[in-house]
Amino acid sequence: YTNVTNEDDYKIRKDIDEAQSSIKNNNALAIALFDKILQKFPSSPRSLYGKALALDDLADKKRSNEILEKALQLYEKVLKADKVPTALFNLVADRCINRLRFLGQYRRAINFHQLIIDKFPKNPKHLNSLGVTYLTMNRVEDARSVFKQVLTKWPEDGFSLVHYGFILKTADNKFEKAIHYLEKGINTKDEGVIDGRFYFHLGDALARVGRNSDAIKIYEEGTKNKVFLSKYQRSLYNVPRLTANPWWSPKDLPYPNSFQLLTDSWRKIKEEGLAILSETGFFQDESENLKDTGEWKQFELFARGQKNVKNCKKCPFTCSVIDRIPEAKTCRRGQTKFSVMHPGTHVWPHCGPTNCRIRVHLGLKVPPSTFIRVAEDTKSWKDGELLIFDDSFEHEVWHNGTEFRLILIVDVWHPELTPSERHNLSPI
Ligand code: LMR
Ligand code: MN
Repeated sequence: YTNVTNEDDYKIRKDIDEAQSSIKNNNALAIALFDKILQKFPSSPRSLYGKALALDDLADKKRSNEILEKALQLYEKVLKADKVPTALFNLVADRCINRLRFLGQYRRAINFHQLIIDKFPKNPKHLNSLGVTYLTMNRVEDARSVFKQVLTKWPEDGFSLVHYGFILKTADNKFEKAIHYLEKGINTKDEGVIDGRFYFHLGDALARVGRNSDAIKIYEEGTKNKVFLSKYQRSLYNVPRLTANPWWSPKDLPYPNSFQLLTDSWRKIKEEGLAILSETGFFQDESENLKDTGEWKQFELFARGQKNVKNCKKCPFTCSVIDRIPEAKTCRRGQTKFSVMHPGTHVWPHCGPTNCRIRVHLGLKVPPSTFIRVAEDTKSWKDGELLIFDDSFEHEVWHNGTEFRLILIVDVWHPELTPSERHNLSPI
C-alpha cells in the first residue's frame, strides 16, 4: 500500500492495514476499526477511504442508497483533504464518479469531475471521464468540446480519439472523419478503446463510404477481440450461450400456437394496418438513421414489453392478437410494429441491439422486388406468411418494386431464455 500511504498514515499503517483487511468480509468491523483510528486522526486519507469502501460495500449488499450517500461524503472528504497521495486520489476519484453515475446523479458528478480536473489538470484521464458523463447525459456538444480539448493537448490519446470519432459518426454522420479517429484510437489499444461500440461504428462508417471489405476486416477483428459474437452477429447486449442462427423456421421455435394465430389473423391485421396508413401522422419515420434512400415508416404497438395504449386504440384487433402471444407481449427486449416501406428504399446493413429476441415478420401486402438479406442469405416476404430471423445478425433491405410493402414485425423472446431471464433482463 506504499503508494497510497502518506507520511502520517505510514506511522499508523498497522492499524490501517488491519482495518482494511476486514472491509470485504466484515463491513461492520472494518467501519468500527476505521472509526477508532479516525477519532485520533480525523483527516487520515487512508482511513477515510477505508471507511468509505466498507460503507460502499455494505450499501451494495443492502442495496441502500442512504448508506452509499455516507460513503460518497467520505470519498468527497478524501478528494478535498491535504496530503492525499496521487494513487489514492485516483482510486477515490474513479470510484466516486462510478457511484454517482450509478445513482444517476450526473449534475453532482460534474461538480466532482471539476474538482478532480482542477487538482490534476495534466491527466487527460480525468477530462475523458467528464466527457463520458456528458455523453451519458446526452450532452453531446459538451462531450465533444471536452474530447477536442484533450486531443489538442494529447493528440495520441486513444480514449479521446475513439470517443471523438464516435461523436463524429453518430451525431454528425461525418463518416470519413469518424473513420480516421476511430481507427487511430482503436490502434492505440489504450484502456477502454477495445469496445464493441467503437468497432460497431467504425465498421458501419466504412460500409457507408463503400469500403465493404475493410468493414468486414473490422468485424473479424472485433470478433477476435470478443466484442462481437461473430462477424455477422454484432449486437452488444447479449446472453452469450443462445443458439445463433440468422434465419429461423417456425418449427424450430416452441411457439406453434402463436404462429398459427398470426397467420390465421393476417387479413384482419392487414385491414387495420392499411386503415392507419390511409390517415396521416400515425406512421413515424424510422428513427435510427439506418436508411440509405427512400421512405420507411413504422407504427408501434408494443415496445419494451409495454403496450402502446394510444396506438392500440387505432388497431384493437391486432393488439388483441399480440395480447394472446405471451412471448411477444412480454418481450422487453423488442417491439411489435407495422412497418411500411416505399419503392426505391434501401436500408443499410445493420444489426439489432440484442440476441435475446427473434424477429417475426408477417407479410401483409408484399409487392414483387422487395428483399431482405440476413447474413449471407436473401429472401422475400409473402402475403399471409411468416419470415423469421434473428435481427442481431447483419441484415439489409431493398425495395426495388413499384408499390408500398406492408408487414407486421413481432419480436419474441429467444426460446432458450429461461422464465427468470425473461423476467429480469433489462428492457431494450
Ligand atoms: C428490419 O428489421 O430492420 C427490417 O427488416 C424491417 C423492415 O421493415 O423490413
Ligand atoms: Mn433491423
